[in-house]
Amino acid sequence: MLDKKVAELINTQINKEFYSAYLYLDFSNYFIETGLEGYASWFKIQAQEERDHALLFMQYMQNNGEKVTFEAVEKPEFEFKKPGDPLQATLEHEQYVTGLIHTIYEAAYSVKDFRTMQFLDWFVKEQGEEEKNAEDMIKKYKLFGEDPKGLYLIDSEMAARVYTAPSLVL
Ligand SMILES: [Fe+2]
Repeated sequence: MLDKKVAELINTQINKEFYSAYLYLDFSNYFIETGLEGYASWFKIQAQEERDHALLFMQYMQNNGEKVTFEAVEKPEFEFKKPGDPLQATLEHEQYVTGLIHTIYEAAYSVKDFRTMQFLDWFVKEQGEEEKNAEDMIKKYKLFGEDPKGLYLIDSEMAARVYTAPSLVL
């Protein structure tokens, strides 16, 4: 069994990860509508990764004899004016998620739950990568994306991403 606060936070995190998946599918839909299929595909894969995160948190709870309770997944509400907007929203969302992971870490640390801290280490590192990816996408978009030919090339590059299962095994 886990500490009550730690278990509560992880249970909430499952919902947040499913929301992240929902959010990135919403962004993917925006890119489909815009005709940028490379970005659309990239965000669809991103959504799969978020679903994987949700499943990892679920599995961790269950491995520790904790009950998983699902709540409603929030509706993503965004109005994008240009393709750079969802990229900026991605960075902001990832920074928010990093904060959530750190809050769980702090709760685990305060009750000397070293096992949960070790489990969370993977997510701490993952969040660093997510923020870096978002920053790189924004940088590239600002450099080349406002020119149609440049945007076409970036979009083709984004299409190359392939799904890989998470490296964390529970
Ligand atoms: Fe995630």
